[in-house]
Amino acid sequence: MSNIKIAPSILSADFSKLGEEIMAIDKAGANYIHIDVMDGNFVPNLTFGPPVIKAIRDKTNLTFDVHLMIDKPERYIEEFVKAGADIIVVHAESTIHLHRVIQQIKSFGKKVGVSLNPATPIDILKYIINDLDMVLVMSVNPGFGGQKFIESTLQKIKDVRALNETIDIQVDGGITDKTIGKCIEAGANIFVAGSYVFSGNYKERIENLKRG
Ligand code: DX5
Ligand code: ZN
Repeated sequence: MSNIKIAPSILSADFSKLGEEIMAIDKAGANYIHIDVMDGNFVPNLTFGPPVIKAIRDKTNLTFDVHLMIDKPERYIEEFVKAGADIIVVHAESTIHLHRVIQQIKSFGKKVGVSLNPATPIDILKYIINDLDMVLVMSVNPGFGGQKFIESTLQKIKDVRALNETIDIQVDGGITDKTIGKCIEAGANIFVAGSYVFSGNYKERIENLKRG
């Protein structure tokens, strides 16, 4: 179980005290800080961009796992690198130049992930998976916290794991103490959790997740 990592999503944090929230989840045992960037085009919601990421960068040494839900992410990679991203995840559906943007992220020495919406087949990973550090399997339709886990995600996790035995597989959406176990069984190892972590005692909630 020790290779399980928990990435609380600050989408469910109290934005009026974001710095304190980040220090609190760090202290509570989080492994990554998951940062959901939304542009109102790729997804029907707006959040924050590089200036906010830059403002919270010195609050923790934890890995900043930046989930870009924006159209044509290649336009902004350098800005997210400068703001302090450690892992940059782009959606396969958000660009027609997926291979190019992967190389762009790697050229800055950053880790790179590709995310798939619930309806997107894994075929798109075939010629790029060896370039990736992580695959993000979305277990809800992106855009909002607090949605219900989509069960067909489990087969998709198994299928990605069959493609590559060692790659990090992250799951995002509807992760709780009730849903994490079956995702671990299917082969995932990094878990984003927003509403579950932030609606209780952070330390207890993160420990519950780590127990699987
Ligand atoms: C959804 C985001 C998620 C979201 C997860 O578009 O990518 O990271 O914050 O929230 P929960 O854990 O509440 O489903
Ligand atoms: Zn996310």
